Order: sequence, then C-alpha cells, then structure tokens
Amino acid sequence: MPLVTSKPLGSEVSRVWCADPTLGARRIGRYLLMKRKHEESAYLLTLRRRAGELVARAGLENGEVKLAYKKLVAEFLHAGGPADDLIVKIGAQFFGCPLGKSRGPVGDSPLPGSKLLDFDYLEKFMVDCFMASGCPEKESKISANVLIEADKRGIDSHGIGRLKSIYLDRIKNGILKPYAPIDIIKETETTALVDGNMGMGLYVGPFCMDLAIAKAKKFGLGFVACRNSTHYGIAGYYATMATQKGCIGFSGTNARPSIAPTFGVEPCLGTNPLCFGFPSDEPFPFVIDCATSICQRGKIEKYARFGKSTPKGMVIDSNGEERTDTEGILKGMVKGECALCPVGGVGDELGGYKGYGWAAVVELLSIAFQDGDFGAALSGVDAKGKPAPMSLGHFFFAINVEALCDLQVFKKKSGDFLRYLRSSAKDPNGPGRIWTAGEPEHDFRKQRAAEGGVMVPPALLKDMQNLREGLPGLRDKYLKFCFE
Ligand SMILES: NC(=O)c1ccc[n+]([C@@H]2O[C@H](COP(=O)([O-])OP(=O)(O)OC[C@H]3O[C@@H](n4cnc5c(N)ncnc54)[C@H](O)[C@@H]3O)[C@@H](O)[C@H]2O)c1
Repeated sequence: MPLVTSKPLGSEVSRVWCADPTLGARRIGRYLLMKRKHEESAYLLTLRRRAGELVARAGLENGEVKLAYKKLVAEFLHAGGPADDLIVKIGAQFFGCPLGKSRGPVGDSPLPGSKLLDFDYLEKFMVDCFMASGCPEKESKISANVLIEADKRGIDSHGIGRLKSIYLDRIKNGILKPYAPIDIIKETETTALVDGNMGMGLYVGPFCMDLAIAKAKKFGLGFVACRNSTHYGIAGYYATMATQKGCIGFSGTNARPSIAPTFGVEPCLGTNPLCFGFPSDEPFPFVIDCATSICQRGKIEKYARFGKSTPKGMVIDSNGEERTDTEGILKGMVKGECALCPVGGVGDELGGYKGYGWAAVVELLSIAFQDGDFGAALSGVDAKGKPAPMSLGHFFFAINVEALCDLQVFKKKSGDFLRYLRSSAKDPNGPGRIWTAGEPEHDFRKQRAAEGGVMVPPALLKDMQNLREGLPGLRDKYLKFCFE
C-alpha cells in the first residue's frame, strides 16, 4: 500500500512523514489522534479515533474496512467535523477514492442537552397547547396528530419544532385563528372547493383529504382544492392518509415566497412541497414528500449551528451572487435579499428550470381554483413590517386503486418495482444502500419507537417551558415536565 505523499497533504502529515519516512500508517494515525485529543467534542473525537483505527488497517484488509471508514468519515462531516481535517484527507489518500459525504437519510446526532420525550407525552402536550389557545378538543387532537407524525417520521423540522413558532405564536399574534368552521363552497361527485376560513391548516388539511378519499372510494377519483387555509404541516401526512385506504394520494401547498425563478433573484414561490403516495406490499408505502427548493431555511439554520458554509448553488442573492455565507444568507432571507434555488439549482446547467416548473405547478394548483393569494401577499408581514395573515391554498387528490385494478396486484407490482430499485448495483462511493422514498421515514419510525420517542433539543425544551408559563391552565397540568 503506497503511503501518502507529502505534497497533497501539505501540513502535519508531511512534517511527520519527512522526519521519518519509515513511519507506518498506524503511527501517523496515532500522532494525529494525540494532537487533536483536546481540541474537539467527545463525539467528534470518538469518530476520529475510530476512523484512525481503520486507517491503520488500510491495505491489510478488504473493502469492508474501506466502507466502514467512509461511513465514519461521512458521520464525522455530518456531525460538523471540518472537511479539511487530516483524518479525512489521509483516509482519502489511503483508501484511494473520493469520500462521499452522505451517510444516507439516517438523521442527525442529537444536540448536547437534548432529552428523549415519549411520543404520547409530546402529543398530549401539543393537544393541551392548542386547546389552551382556543382550538376545540377534536380539532386540537387532529392538529397534534399531524405534528407528532412528523416527529415519528424523523422530519424534525415539522413536528414539535413548529408548535410554537408556526402555530401558537401566530395565534397569539392574531394572524392565525385557532379554530374556524370549514365550509364546502362548491361540490360535485368527484371534486370540492373548501374554505378553511383562516383556521389551522393542521385540521383543515385532514378534512380535505378525508373528503377526497371518500369521493375516490365512491366514484374512483376525488380532488379537493382548499382556500383560506394556513400552514398544513407535512404534505406526506395527506398522501399517507390515502395510501392507508388503498388509494394513490397526492397533495401540495403553497407557502411564504422564498424560491426565485430560474434566471431570477426575487423570492416569488413558496418552498411548495409536492407529495405523491402509492400503496405497496412493503411494510411502508412509496411516499415522496419534499419541497421543490433544494433545501428549506431549516437546513441553512442547521449549517449555522455547525458553523458550516452553505453549499454553492442553493441560494442566490439580489445581485445574482451564489451565496455560501450561512449567517449572511439567513439575514438576507429575512430582508428578501436572498432567495432559495429550485431543485436543480441556480440557472439551467443542472436543470434548475425543472424544479422551478414544479414549484410553479404547486403554486398554480394551490391558487388558481380558488382565486388565492401568491407572492408578496403571502410574505406574512404588512406594509409596516408587522405580522400579517397568510391565506394559503392546498390541493388533495385521491385515486381509488380498486376502481382500476385489484389492490393486491397493484401493491405487489409497486413492491416488486421498489425492491428492484433497492437491490440494484450500489455506488461504491455512496453509503452502501439504496432507499426508496418513504423508506427513510419508516426506518425513523421503527428506530424512534424502539428508543422510546424523539430527542428534543434544548431550545425546544425551553419553548415548552415558555408555553407552560404563557398559556392558561398549562402550569397546573405540567407542574414539572418529565425532563425537569
Ligand atoms: N407546509 C409547508 O409549507 C412545507 C413546505 C416545504 C416542505 N414541507 C415539508 O417538509 C418536509 C421535508 O421536506 P424536504 O424538502 O426537506 O424533504 P427532504 O429533502 O428531506 O426529502 C424527503 C423525501 O425524500 C425521500 N428520501 C430521502 N432520502 C432518500 C433517499 N436516499 N432515497 C430515496 N428517497 C429519499 C424521503 O422518503 C422523503 O419522501 C416534507 O414533509 C414537506 O412536506 C412543508
């Protein structure tokens, strides 16, 4: 196994190597471990130590060591370890291949100070918060169920993390009604136009999808457009409602504008998730549930927490610069000076116009049937910069599989196709596994159920404490939280 050459590594290794060219990988690895010992978090240190041990076995063993090393380094980078760390560079040299950064959709390491909270406990707390804010019990339970489902699926950006900022704070600010009766404005056998009257999208959404499914079960198809609604949470909740009833389901919603059109710089479109769900004979359906931007603000906030730059191509500013300065981007987004790029990225080289097109499809389906708002009207602030209501539109489509074919045949065929994809040849530089959409969420659900809940980070534990102090009756119910 040829040892590293001094030139590409440049610094510490080359000094050690030049001082004693007979040194083996094992000793170089040890030297680096010693040197770094006191510099970083225990977690990164452990990862580096384990990676160092694998480097020391380089050349002696087969591809499994290489794969294990790559997984560790991906974890190291994901947990905030610097990409120019020597252990990363050395490994790349020893194993002679570029190191993939991705571990696949396996989640983040919990932040220090996080506490494990049981799902039922959290869901009950959410119900109590909604009820204390003026939402009736039935609607509070439906709303809390949408939120906790995000936590169960590993979509941490849309569960307990949104309870205060997106729902309860907006209710407090008077820009979201905790409850309003839902009206069906117009209806045929297969279609309906629903008005949410600015109540919570979290209970308006399930009402609409239930209606679409009921129509599909009776007439084969059901399409429901919804106006005057508000943030409805994860689109995947609605598609999964359909798959559980033997239907194909799809749903989408518009949102506060943050994506710029291809060759534009102004945030014009919401992150506009588009979700499709298909029943399968697997223990989970195929559910592709994601925004039409490359990432959401939440991901940029995560880069900020780890002190990382934002990868090029995700964000463009009003001067047309592709921005990577994470803190500047976050400030620029608030001022409308930075916009997210659609799936496919800036410009047309990697097909940014495709994501832009899909974001526009979601916006059109969300607004055109219901004469809904778009663009600046959904900015969430008025001319004086004060919080203002956002009247969002959603759409829900259900197709009853049995209207076209036997459900078991359909499920078997989708399952066969998904298994075919997952068993295809793996990228030697990837995490060593292929997933199909919906599978990562199924994995999270299983893993979190086994662990007994979700790790809630300190900032959200603090939110829970603040809500207890601010909402009527909560102090009596939660004299002491389970994590206190
Ligand atoms: N209500 C709103 O205004 C709004 C706006 C934007 C997003 N959202 C929600 O936010 C959530 C997260 O959106 P996102 O864009 O960050 O999603 P994301 O980028 O995390 O992608 C998630 C989807 O990709 C699939 N997936 C992930 N890794 C995969 C892999 N390796 N192979 C195959 N499939 C894989 C998952 O199964 C899932 O369907 C979604 O639930 C979305 O509905 C809501």
